[in-house]
Amino acid sequence: MKITGEDLKGVFIKTYGCQMNVYDSERMTDMLAPAGYTPVAGPETADLIVLNTCHIREKAAEKVYSELGRMREWKEAASRAGRRVTIAVAGCVAQAEGEEMVRRQPAVDIVVGPQSYHRLPALVARAPFGRPLVETEFAVAEKFATLDGVEGRRPLRTSKGPVAAYLTVQEGCDKFCTFCVVPYTRGAEISRSVAAIVAEATRLAGEGVREVTLLGQNVNAWHGAGPEGRDWGLGRLLFRLAEIRGLDRLRYMTSHPVDMADDLIEAHRDLDALMPYLHLPVQSGSDRVLAAMNRRHTRAGYLRLVDKVRSARSDIAIAGDFIVGFPGETEADFADTLSIVDAAGYAAAFSFKYSPRPGTPAATAADQVPEAVKNERLLRLQALIADRQTAFMASRIGVEAEVLFERPGRHAGQIIGRSPWLLPVHVAAPETLIGTIGRVRLTGASANSFSGTFAMRGVAAEALSAAEVAA
Ligand code: 5AD
Ligand code: SF4
Repeated sequence: MKITGEDLKGVFIKTYGCQMNVYDSERMTDMLAPAGYTPVAGPETADLIVLNTCHIREKAAEKVYSELGRMREWKEAASRAGRRVTIAVAGCVAQAEGEEMVRRQPAVDIVVGPQSYHRLPALVARAPFGRPLVETEFAVAEKFATLDGVEGRRPLRTSKGPVAAYLTVQEGCDKFCTFCVVPYTRGAEISRSVAAIVAEATRLAGEGVREVTLLGQNVNAWHGAGPEGRDWGLGRLLFRLAEIRGLDRLRYMTSHPVDMADDLIEAHRDLDALMPYLHLPVQSGSDRVLAAMNRRHTRAGYLRLVDKVRSARSDIAIAGDFIVGFPGETEADFADTLSIVDAAGYAAAFSFKYSPRPGTPAATAADQVPEAVKNERLLRLQALIADRQTAFMASRIGVEAEVLFERPGRHAGQIIGRSPWLLPVHVAAPETLIGTIGRVRLTGASANSFSGTFAMRGVAAEALSAAEVAA
């Protein structure tokens, strides 16, 4: 299609939730470009507003409805000025709410689920005519085919910046943890093909991307047919991606313990490009709660796995996810959760209060934990985790680490990069070094980032103190 100046329209996509939504929003932007849509910075000047929603957190749907109330005002103001604004809701809340969304908020023109957003351009074209459009089919194979086509034609923008990018390799989940909506909103586990992934990674490397993070709800369940016809697991795929020239660093997230296959652990042992960081949620340290959550692993099994990973790569930083106050969780169960923090030796962890998701088995369990108890347990767990993260960071002070410089810092003369363990590093160095990997001596740490001195090339840059970085 030929686009003239008059056809140009603005699209504003507001993204909530996980990295996969960030990736999806970028692909939506790519797909809308041939229809004349260019990204604008805010809803004020947009002809199309997309809310790419997340259903994981508490009151997610309510928050989307209140945001839609604000968007409706934009739409009405634009309409008074003679301009038509289309409102689309995408992502997991759209999938979960479906028709209900247009009933509750008539300003919504389009509801599109995460496994059918490739149809967004067609829906947008039809939106001005007739009633609101709701598209929540799990059309994943068709979506992947469309994604491959779009990326073949247009250069990709990258999500984390010009030097690091996300790449979705797997979607959906068959695990059905009893607290989680993902199997219902994202559908069954499905993997993208080796050829599509290698092609996208090669293209990213060609554009100067040096670090790729493979994404999937259960990324380590990824599998696909290799060129020789054998079924590959994620470990084999990582070996293949490490061969791509210019792609110096690989990461993946998020993983389920039962899918942590030997070839993946071997990749951690043998591949320098695979960064020593593993996000491996455990959710609870109590076998009773793990069984009620349908996690399919025990505390001991999880800890054995962590040991195995550490024997393959001793400097690996392991991060966890926890839920406190799952139905029926006793003080003794919670004590097991506290004790697994040290048993697993987490470098970082994310912790959440259990919150019931309609339609999931745990939501209707009789023995819900009172809110005050959840609050109190969350505080105790978070204090412990913060302490262990501080200890992990302290253990890296004095170490020389390879840092990929990604972007300018907030202070003049400062740039920010990523350490191998994902935590950012602030260094006083010129912006010309962005996109390069340099050796940095880590000299200080604030709550969530390191500071360091640039050790290569003899740049006489003084490290900013942790206090300055935090300021
Ligand atoms: N309540 C609280 N936390 C949840 N998570 C997923 N579902 C829920 C829920 N219903 C957390 C898990 C998961 C992370 C992405 O969000 O810890 O690993
Ligand atoms: Fe949700 Fe469990 Fe699947 Fe993770 S493994 S996405 S927590 S159901």
